[in-house]
Amino acid sequence: MTRRDAFQNLLAWMAGSPLARAQRQDLAYVAERLPALEELVNVFEFEPVARKKLDRGSYDYLAGGADDEWTLRRNREAFDHLTLRPRFLVDVSRLDLSVELFGQRVAMPVLVCPMGGHQRAHPDGELATARGAGAAQTIMAVSTNSSYTIDQIAGTATGPLWFQLYAGPDVDRTREKVERAVANGCKAVCWTLDLPHAPQRERNLRNGIDMLRSPAVAAGRRAAREAPPYRLQTLYQPELTWSYLEEMVSYAKVPVLLKGILTAEDARLAAERGAAGVIVSNHGGRALDTAPATIEVLPEIVDAVGGKIPVLVDGGFRRGTEILMALAIGAKAVMVGRPVMWGLAAYGQPGVQRVLELLQTELARAMGQAGRPTVASIDRSLVRIER
Ligand code: LAC
Repeated sequence: MTRRDAFQNLLAWMAGSPLARAQRQDLAYVAERLPALEELVNVFEFEPVARKKLDRGSYDYLAGGADDEWTLRRNREAFDHLTLRPRFLVDVSRLDLSVELFGQRVAMPVLVCPMGGHQRAHPDGELATARGAGAAQTIMAVSTNSSYTIDQIAGTATGPLWFQLYAGPDVDRTREKVERAVANGCKAVCWTLDLPHAPQRERNLRNGIDMLRSPAVAAGRRAAREAPPYRLQTLYQPELTWSYLEEMVSYAKVPVLLKGILTAEDARLAAERGAAGVIVSNHGGRALDTAPATIEVLPEIVDAVGGKIPVLVDGGFRRGTEILMALAIGAKAVMVGRPVMWGLAAYGQPGVQRVLELLQTELARAMGQAGRPTVASIDRSLVRIER
């Protein structure tokens, strides 16, 4: 028995204690064999296959969240409080899932979330993800912390790309990143707001993984001008405020979306200060632990924005029905992260495409069963939110 197994056993033994329960690392079931891609019937089934392919540290990096992983769990649990209200005797013989986002038509309101370092999952990394997303005819948001450069990813992509921005290490370098992404054809910038200081991801600490030392993250970080307060580790540019949004909007030349919005107040400010859209996100439970599930704050944010700019959402979406719930509340599109990475780790580019197509088929089935043949026909009367 390794030290790590002994530690796991100890935690399991202590599982009665709320602290241990909160901190226990959920060990996903590990597939015993590698099934053929066609055998998997839903996106959940990709996780144990990915788990078999990944080393412990990479799997935990992907699966884990901040602190007690409360928000990570809440993203999934919050769906238990929503139900769909289907309508019948509507002509659903034809279905159209396509949507237009900033002038670009895509095959489904399901996009690939920005995620760092896809090479942890597969040697082809973002190159495979970009081609998988392109084959599924949807948008991939490319992370600042990608394993390949934006030039390489754009050079191989077969579909539209957006660029996820971590501002830093200073305003000049931030502007360079945006301009380089735009020059490579990225159609929008998603500026991630929710990691001004580094989160504590305890699985990474236990596995000896230091996010800040990854070459991609290190390259974009500020040179330590002064020590961050209270022994924190500081990423990017924690001094930036709303006025910088206006500055970025003026040079970006493409729509700038703010990613990480969790309140009506910030959503309203985003619309007032020139953001082209907001992405309701808690960073997959990886930033501020105890932040709410995204699906539970989506209604207040959609209402606050009042249709002025599109609202997108990510956080725990694993089923077409869950995507339909978000669209019913008023999201323009849903972004999906970990399942795409499971697909990539397990099967490379075809796995990415398959994950996206499974979600598309599930969404189509749910729309057909709910009497909503087009995305435009989906409205809030389709969802009931239990209090
Ligand atoms: C993540 C950051 C770095 O791993 O975006 O969640």
